[in-house]
Amino acid sequence: MVRLSIAAFVALAASLVSAVVPNSPRFDLSKPSYDLFRHKTLHDDTVQQGFAFDNVNRRLFVAQRRNGATAASGDLCITQLDFSGKYLGHMHLTGFGHGVSFGAQADGSATYLWTEVDANKNGYGQQLARFKFVNGKTLSKSSSSLKKYKPVAAGTEHTCAVDTVNNRLVVRYQKSGGKHIAVYSLAAATKGDFSAPLANFTQPLPATKGKSFQGYTAYGRYLYLLWGDSYDASNGVLNSQVASVDMNTGRVTQGPVITRAGSTLSFREPEGMALYRTADGQVRLFMGFASGKAGDRRSNLFYKNAMV
Ligand SMILES: *[C@@H]1O[C@H](CO)[C@@H](O)[C@H](O)[C@H]1NC(C)=O
Repeated sequence: MVRLSIAAFVALAASLVSAVVPNSPRFDLSKPSYDLFRHKTLHDDTVQQGFAFDNVNRRLFVAQRRNGATAASGDLCITQLDFSGKYLGHMHLTGFGHGVSFGAQADGSATYLWTEVDANKNGYGQQLARFKFVNGKTLSKSSSSLKKYKPVAAGTEHTCAVDTVNNRLVVRYQKSGGKHIAVYSLAAATKGDFSAPLANFTQPLPATKGKSFQGYTAYGRYLYLLWGDSYDASNGVLNSQVASVDMNTGRVTQGPVITRAGSTLSFREPEGMALYRTADGQVRLFMGFASGKAGDRRSNLFYKNAMV
């Protein structure tokens, strides 16, 4: 008879479970949101899309379509703001994608961005790229300073977000007519190793009553999703919603629940989610909103910090 110690038994049992994202606290989406900033100008003047934090160097980057670009071009502008919303720098990216979500990763004092790249005819990136943020630089999709990755070979569109607390790359990809989520160690992904996702499942709630999908991020075991439309598109109805998903089961844990963050903003289109841990150790789930008039759109960031 083979005798296993309890520790060996636990290790063996864990190895037999295919998808395991370690347990973590979960945000309570029914609790209020707080302002980081409102009405800030980006380098270009279109609506903001996704945004990302380099949690090590404490930097913030916001994506938007480049001024004058068509939706199908995939031409983006990435603006770096400080945490009061002051402009610090920008990059232009040619032929990358829509910008719904992207990630940032520290490498020493430099920040590397993870974005979609190689926009298809609808303007969505087909795979991912990683490159150093360099203020004032324009990168084309064929630049040699990009490293490209296709996490799921059969995936036709890829975007990503970073769990900045647990250093994981969360990838949302299109396959077989639907959206899927896969989670990887950021260190493994950086080396191009996508062979062992911690989770890989079909995104639940593919459409919440026709509202537009607007962003996602993850903290530990839970994925967070954002939907909604501008007041212009919804006839003035506040329809922004958030939900959380247990990535070990692929099932919804909370929501969708209405979020009233920034309800008094003009226009108010939900745009992007990201995770950030403050120097004091408070973990924040951020949501972005575009406000203002065409030709002078503004960036607004809010966060939730209550855990269940
Ligand atoms: C993840 O799931 C997709 C199906 O949606 C599959 O094509 C892919 O091979 C899976 N990745 C791994 C590493 O198992």
